[in-house]
Amino acid sequence: MSNLLTASIGRKLLMSVSGLFLILFLIVHLILNSFLLLDGCMGFETGQLFNAGVHFMGTNPLIKIIEPTLALGFVVHIVYSLILTLQNMKARGPQAYASGKKTTGVEWASLNMLPLGIAILAFLIVHIFNFYMKMKGYIAWEGGEVEFPFFGSMATGENAYALVNETFRSLPLVLLYIVGSVALAFHLAHGFWSSFQTIGWNNPIWMPRLRVISNVVAIILGGGFTVIALAQYLFF
Ligand code: HEM
Repeated sequence: MSNLLTASIGRKLLMSVSGLFLILFLIVHLILNSFLLLDGCMGFETGQLFNAGVHFMGTNPLIKIIEPTLALGFVVHIVYSLILTLQNMKARGPQAYASGKKTTGVEWASLNMLPLGIAILAFLIVHIFNFYMKMKGYIAWEGGEVEFPFFGSMATGENAYALVNETFRSLPLVLLYIVGSVALAFHLAHGFWSSFQTIGWNNPIWMPRLRVISNVVAIILGGGFTVIALAQYLFF
């Protein structure tokens, strides 16, 4: 166990596993956020579908376990990526973190994982203050509770839709979300396949496939969050 935490490969493994776990969270998060685009369709009034989704996540007992695990996932990923990057920089110069051969076809993202990660972290801090802290009541906001259909009956919960809608009325915030999402896309374009390589899935058949899947995941997640922020600003 102590080797896992201290040996270089153990640290990289923890970083990869935590990164994949965070990607899983982002996929669920994007699915839930896509309700923002469907709101007003399928017989739901504006905001109801998203509010029901957020209520489901907020009241589901499983989420109560996942939330601290998610926080731990972020901490492990950030701490170990910092340790590894600094260790590599010290040992082999500032470009050492980039994996793979650096002669030809080097991806820009692979050389900039640390700055991209720092940009995402900065975005995330603003994001947590914008949404999570208000939803949980740590920061006051004038949302109030609303009613929405929930598994065949009506339920009452926070008006998360109003919060998102109000947030995305601000152009600077929309631009921040676009920058954060683009940074996320670049980070994932390298991070996704690189994680599989670290955990040992680096055979010659699957590596090229994983690189393609990596780009698809990056475009869907980065593009998805961008489209939602822009659509909220322009159309809702
Ligand atoms: C259009 C873009 C996004 C929207 C509308 C959005 C919306 C939200 C909302 C409403 C919450 C609060 C949920 C609650 O407390 O019940 C939340 C929480 C959170 N978001 Fe986002 N989000 C977006 C993008 C992102 C991105 C790009 C990331 C990561 C890089 C992210 C990471 C998180 C995290 C870690 C939490 C706290 C954990 C949680 O409540 O599930 N979000 N988001």
